[in-house]
Formats: sequence, structure tokens, C-alpha cells
Amino acid sequence: MSKTIIAPSILSADFSKLGEEVESVVRAGADWVHLDVMDGHFVPNITFGPPVIKALRNRTDKVFDCHLMIAPADPYLAAFADAGCDYITVHAEAGPHLDRSLQAIRNLGKKAGVSLNPSTAENVIEYVLDRLDLVLLMTVNPGFGGQAFIPAVVEKIRRVKALIGDRPIDIEIDGGVTPETAPLVTGAGANVLVAGSAVFKGAAEEAYARNIKAIREA
Ligand code: DX5
Ligand code: ZN
Repeated sequence: MSKTIIAPSILSADFSKLGEEVESVVRAGADWVHLDVMDGHFVPNITFGPPVIKALRNRTDKVFDCHLMIAPADPYLAAFADAGCDYITVHAEAGPHLDRSLQAIRNLGKKAGVSLNPSTAENVIEYVLDRLDLVLLMTVNPGFGGQAFIPAVVEKIRRVKALIGDRPIDIEIDGGVTPETAPLVTGAGANVLVAGSAVFKGAAEEAYARNIKAIREA
């Protein structure tokens, strides 16, 4: 887990041409593609679901990193697995049975992730560490792209890293990641960076390449 993985969020892409946007951002250097699924219930916004992800799956072989901001999540896990997600991440706050959700994801043959809102303490992962492939720490309140980074979460990254120890679990940061904030989170132990607005600004492939490079080199 040495190289930092850049996972652009297509939430900030042009939804009228999502397939082309995915291809562009992959050519521009994306390592993973981050898919923000919102239900208008767990978070105050609605995006897309399995049919859209399935359509995008034909456009690239890159890892599809699916961030479910939906409650409940369990009834839909199989649909997201079938759509071609590689990682499926549920929110700890979205249901009472995190252990069950993580087992269900792995039983579908997918990598299992848990996401924590900025106000959620890291100890909720303590007893599910052996069921986890990824911990996604939100550095904004989920629901929208383009919000300001919440610096209090940097300390939580360090604590999560200590809890994980030498287990092969990725630490992913989502929200307000820019060339300015990236070094704060990688310095604390994060190895996967989601970025939406900071990657898709400029609305052209050359801009995406510059933007990804700026985050990677920061
Ligand atoms: C927020 C989403 C993020 C978002 C990040 O609810 O989970 O993935 O798209 O957008 P930026 O990078 O613009 O903060
Ligand atoms: Zn996300």
C-alpha cells in the first residue's frame, strides 16, 4: 500500500455524458472510479443506482469503488455487486447490523468497506476489522460535492491507522480533497484519495490530467 490511489468521484462529472467522462478521467490517470450512490433519505441528495453503474462498467476495467449513502443498504448489495462494483462501502450510521452487511458484501465476492461520517468515532470499526478491506473516512458531511474539508478528521485517520495495525485495509478519504489538503491526509496514513470537484474542474480531459497530477504530486 505504498502508492497513493486517486479515485475521482464522477459526482462532479457531466451527467449528460457519463460514459465519456469515465473514459476521459481514466485516460487522465485515475486509478479507481468512485461512485457516489445517494438515496435522498440517508443523505439529502439523490444520484444514481445499479443500472447506471452497470452501463458504465463497459467503459473501463478500473476498480469501481462504490460508496453507498443509502439506508437500508442490505437489500441492494446484490444489485450493486451484479452491476460490477469491486468495492462496496456502507455507512456505519446507515444500519444497525454493520457486521452482517460486511459479511454479505464479502459473500457476494466483493471487497467490503465501511464509511464513517465526520462526527462518528472510529471505535465502531473495532470489532469488524477482520471483515474489512477498506475504511472510508468522510472529511465532509456526505451529500454534495464541492464542500470544505473538515480538518478535525485528520486525527481520526491516525487513530484508524493505529486500530488497523498491519492488516491489509485501505484508508480512503472523501470530501474536500485538493492539492492543499491531500498531504495532510496522506501524512496521517490515508492511501486512497477521492476527489470530485478538484478533478473535474476545467471540464476537459487535459484539465483532468493536470488536476490528478497536482493531487498526486502534492
Ligand atoms: C460526498 C461524496 C464525495 C464527493 C466528493 O457525499 O461522497 O465523494 O463527491 O466531492 P469533492 O471532492 O468535491 O468534495
Ligand atoms: Zn464518496
